[in-house]
Amino acid sequence: MQTIDLQAQVDSFPFWYHRIELPGGITTPGWAPLSPEAYRIPEDLTGKRVLDVGAWDGFWSFEALKRGASQVVAIDDFSDYLGLLENKDRHAWETFDLCRGAFGYSEEVCQRRELSVYNATEDELGRFDVVFFFGTLYHLRYPLLALDVLSSICDGEIFVETAILDDFSPYQGGLGNGYSGAQPVMEFYPNNEYGNNETNWWAPSVSCLGLMTIAAGFPDVSVWKLVDQPREIAHCRGFCHGKKAA
Ligand SMILES: C[S@@+](CC[C@H](N)C(=O)[O-])C[C@H]1O[C@@H](n2cnc3c(N)ncnc32)[C@H](O)[C@@H]1O
Repeated sequence: MQTIDLQAQVDSFPFWYHRIELPGGITTPGWAPLSPEAYRIPEDLTGKRVLDVGAWDGFWSFEALKRGASQVVAIDDFSDYLGLLENKDRHAWETFDLCRGAFGYSEEVCQRRELSVYNATEDELGRFDVVFFFGTLYHLRYPLLALDVLSSICDGEIFVETAILDDFSPYQGGLGNGYSGAQPVMEFYPNNEYGNNETNWWAPSVSCLGLMTIAAGFPDVSVWKLVDQPREIAHCRGFCHGKKAA
């Protein structure tokens, strides 16, 4: 694909969530991820089969392949509009497909399926060495069920990223007023209490996230925050790495 055509195609989409560096020096104009190194994804994923849940434009799917994964399966149900987008702003897999083509990954090696995480069964997708579960847990009505489902198809490790409550709670007074101890707390948002987005249902403290990941069958976990003392809500994010028993 010629650079000029690729740029025109990137520009033709009204919204990009991910900032993806494509060949030819072209970068998609999204803002996520804020800090890719904070996810602590291994540099070497050689030979791993990776599931990318809630893949959106596919930043992490392509990242897995760049790091040597043998195959990636991206799933998304396209239910998140960030509380502000309209239907016409989200083009399902079109942005993902544009990037996949630009990188030259085949449809076999870089698969994508319109599927909810709850339906990510072994019959549908097979088994995985590594699961990426980023920016999706707090959009779910049943977050622990989702972790259980993902655990049932994962033989190795899971990486989870989510909004967390440690430094922000809409019920405790907003930014700077969260659950800063190690309380395993989760808040429920029946409307748009979190970030004015009706698809945000729950947010855990980072300690709760770790304990949920253990409860789902990953006994060896570590958790960390994106920023120690965040000054904006977008920085109130946490991570968990969970491993299956050896
Ligand atoms: C905030 S975006 C995160 C995108 C990407 N994973 C990241 O972290 O950069 C959440 C994504 O999860 C998807 N999503 C929400 N609920 C889902 C579900 N039940 N099953 C699969 N994907 C879901 C949304 O459509 C959206 O693409």
